[in-house]
Amino acid sequence: MSTTPKTLTMPVSTSRANPTPSPMKRLTVPRIRQRKGGEPLVMLTAYTVRMAQIMDPHCDMLLVGDSLGQVIYGLPHTVAVTMEMMAAHGAAVVRGSYHAAVIVDMPFGSYEASPELAFANAARLLKETGAAGVKLEGGKVMAPTVEFLTSRGIPVMAHVGLTPQAVNILGGYGVRGKADAEAKTIVEDAIALSNAGAFAMVIEGVMEPIAIEITQKVACPTIGIGASAQCDGQVLVTEDMLGLFERTPKFVKRYGAMSEMVEGAVVHYADEVRSRAFPGPEQIYTTGQ
Ligand code: KIV
Repeated sequence: MSTTPKTLTMPVSTSRANPTPSPMKRLTVPRIRQRKGGEPLVMLTAYTVRMAQIMDPHCDMLLVGDSLGQVIYGLPHTVAVTMEMMAAHGAAVVRGSYHAAVIVDMPFGSYEASPELAFANAARLLKETGAAGVKLEGGKVMAPTVEFLTSRGIPVMAHVGLTPQAVNILGGYGVRGKADAEAKTIVEDAIALSNAGAFAMVIEGVMEPIAIEITQKVACPTIGIGASAQCDGQVLVTEDMLGLFERTPKFVKRYGAMSEMVEGAVVHYADEVRSRAFPGPEQIYTTGQ
């Protein structure tokens, strides 16, 4: 059961810090950090304004994930996702939300080459979307970049374990950390990123003990996906948990049957168009109405 009221209150007071009427106070990065070890953080992906509106009252964070490459654009993986896609969808999600902190993924190629490149692209995403922070994938090699961005005013969510942008190196999306050496590396990655100033961290697709150890050892909240219920929060790709796709990975729980619902409605509509049952008298403009 969500504890957040569904009806949003809309105070319209202004100040110099908030010169335009702000419907309600959004969760901030410091407040998210304070949730370490407290009430679990609820995060879901969002890519469009209407979905953001529906999910916003119930989520602490909305992630404009680069998974939009697959979910929205039908790409085989996230490698081809562009800054333009992230900026456009990030802005839409910010427009559709009042309460959740919106975090935008940095796409592959926009941050790895240098901290300076990462800063330019992260700043662009924050300016063009109004999001609260960015997320980037990678282990300890990204720690200097996280430190560079954080110390210059850009909140960074890290992402360790299975990092989908590295699919061409990893060769697939299998669970990480089965071997002791890899498990140790993932824990070290997480500690380095947290020490570098990451305000939160996604742990994706790892053996559960790794997620538990990281959660105990790092200062920032951990957000699990295919990780552990002991993480400080959870995230899923919304369309996965709504049941939009036929194949559901092991770590996804289906909370809806969206593809069946959509197909049922479309079949019904198609039948009614073909039988001329739609439009009916209620949907027709006649004189005097
Ligand atoms: O792109 C995405 O949706 C993500 C989540 C799966 C964490 O990174």
